Amino acid sequence: MGFRRCWSVELYRLFSAGMRRPEAGPEEGHEKGCEPRLGGPKIAAMARRIYLETFGCQMNELDSELVSGQLVALGYTFTPDRALADVILYNTCSVREHAEQKVWSRLGELKERKLLEPGLVVGVLGCLAERDGVALINRMPVVDILVGPGELDKLPGLLENAVKTNESLAADAALLPSPPDQPYVTSARQVALQGNASRRSATLAAAGDSLELLDLSRSMSPMVGEGVRRSAYVRITRGCNKFCTYCVVPFTRGAEVHRPPDHIIEECKRLAGSGVIEVTLLGQTVNHYRFEHGAAVMLDGIMQPQKGRSYAGGGGAGLAGVHRRDPFTGANVTTFADLLRRIHDEVPAIKRLRFVTSYPRDFGDDVLEVIRDHPRICRYLHVPAQSGSNRLLKLMNRGYEVGEYLEFLDRARAFLDTPERPLEISGDFIVGFPTETDEDFEATVALIHKAQYKNSFIFKYSPRPGTVAIDKFADDVPEGVKRSRNNRLLAMQTAISQGRGERYVGRELEVFVEGYSTRERKKRAAERGACATGSGGGGVGGGLMALTVNGKLTQGGLAGLEMAGLERAGHEIAGHEHGGGEVSGHEVRVEVEVSEKASPQGPRAQFSARTDTDMIVMFDAEAGEELVGSLRRVIVTSANALTLGAELV
Ligand code: 5AD
Ligand code: SF4
Repeated sequence: MGFRRCWSVELYRLFSAGMRRPEAGPEEGHEKGCEPRLGGPKIAAMARRIYLETFGCQMNELDSELVSGQLVALGYTFTPDRALADVILYNTCSVREHAEQKVWSRLGELKERKLLEPGLVVGVLGCLAERDGVALINRMPVVDILVGPGELDKLPGLLENAVKTNESLAADAALLPSPPDQPYVTSARQVALQGNASRRSATLAAAGDSLELLDLSRSMSPMVGEGVRRSAYVRITRGCNKFCTYCVVPFTRGAEVHRPPDHIIEECKRLAGSGVIEVTLLGQTVNHYRFEHGAAVMLDGIMQPQKGRSYAGGGGAGLAGVHRRDPFTGANVTTFADLLRRIHDEVPAIKRLRFVTSYPRDFGDDVLEVIRDHPRICRYLHVPAQSGSNRLLKLMNRGYEVGEYLEFLDRARAFLDTPERPLEISGDFIVGFPTETDEDFEATVALIHKAQYKNSFIFKYSPRPGTVAIDKFADDVPEGVKRSRNNRLLAMQTAISQGRGERYVGRELEVFVEGYSTRERKKRAAERGACATGSGGGGVGGGLMALTVNGKLTQGGLAGLEMAGLERAGHEIAGHEHGGGEVSGHEVRVEVEVSEKASPQGPRAQFSARTDTDMIVMFDAEAGEELVGSLRRVIVTSANALTLGAELV
């Protein structure tokens, strides 16, 4: 315990004191020469190569980035090739069954290898680890490390222990070879799970929230020898108190806690100082953010995150109510509206400020006013509805009715949707929730018609162990019905999206260039071969690390993760309120839309960019890195359901 705290505090001091990690030494004979080694604090497992694959939502992407930064600082290197790794880590998602299955099959694939290589360390991080606990190791004895999302700061210590344990197991195995029918296999069993600890205290202090140190010790330029990163996630809240009956997140990510605003601002400033111009604030219910300074608690000289109080802002008084701002607003409180304003005003180098995901019931006018009055806050809201049927919303424990949801959309558009600056909204829906009738489903159809989303993330209900719904309701909507409802909503949304896209044709817009389009990157990766990751990524270079999102390789290191153009776009299209999962059919269509054009001016490439309303824009321009991470003006020339085609101005 003490060791862990010192470790994290030390890292925090190291980075917050502005110390730079030593530069990379010359490449030292890795099989394919992909990964330069880093100096820096040495630990026993210094030269271990890690393969890290990330599934799920943006929160998981950020978690992977943060733990990777720590591990790189401690001397580990990363490899995009699982076969070359000494340590294999999966950062998992359990929001739907499909996301879990991918992890089970990955782990299954490691069984034989672990028999041959008992020194191999396998870790499962994230929501699946937290939900299944040690039962996961019992089911998959190849797993050595389990770390829940609330305990990720412990990973370095656990990893070191596992490496040492497995080394000695491997040595024993070499001395005492087991008969072939009794393979020598065991797990180092390094486990850090939150259990229900995060919900134990009723006080505002999130007593001893060591995870805060993970965010605080964030490495600003984690990669050596690569382009500058321009877009980043910043966590403002963690966990969730809503307990929607279908959802596993409150159990895996624990109670809602809010980070101290000064920590968030400082992180934004440091990111801006390192070249970031776009920040996306993350939270399961991001608009619940509130920090009460009078109740702030210090521990080891560090202000602790605060537990969320029950919130009744926004629509708390129901349709008839007029109560539309955080009731705790005041000098000694930083509300979500205050936080947005502070970041906007105190970090002007951030040219785009986004946030996901919003909970529809608690969205006050105070937040809408701040967005309206602060030009660098993006006009995009992701506000999941989940169903258009009041009966189902009740069974889901969503806490609002369709009328209130629509009232919010109207209010948001009244504040923010202008001819000069449109507002775009996206939603999430679950089809086939237990007992869903045709009538319920038609109510959802009607809601999607009325809401006119830019896009919707549509999921078939997936019963999740540990949730209220799995215990209370039979999963009684047949799979075929779920599928056809899913397809119908997708088709309908596609038509709506197409219409919304067409409104942009002929307009000149500012876009943030995220990188080469997916197809362009695939083409380039194929040309370069598997290991030459130099300029591939999302348009930024670096070959030190490869991370994957939803099982897809994201090359270009940590910055690649942030900047991965359509990789990220596809990820978001797959849909995530706060825990989300699989790549949907949508993503495939994005790739289909990509087109290559030959040009007389020289090598051309297709780039992927975003409007401040989160529309994906594709344009062709001279190949190269200069555009990536910059804001450019384009004229929109065409539109389809998922992307806008454009030309650089
Ligand atoms: N089944 C299907 N979809 C789910 N989601 C969350 N839990 C489930 C579940 N058990 C969806 C919701 C949420 C998004 C991240 O995932 O729509 O907004
Ligand atoms: Fe919380 Fe969102 Fe899950 Fe509801 S769906 S419990 S708001 S994370």
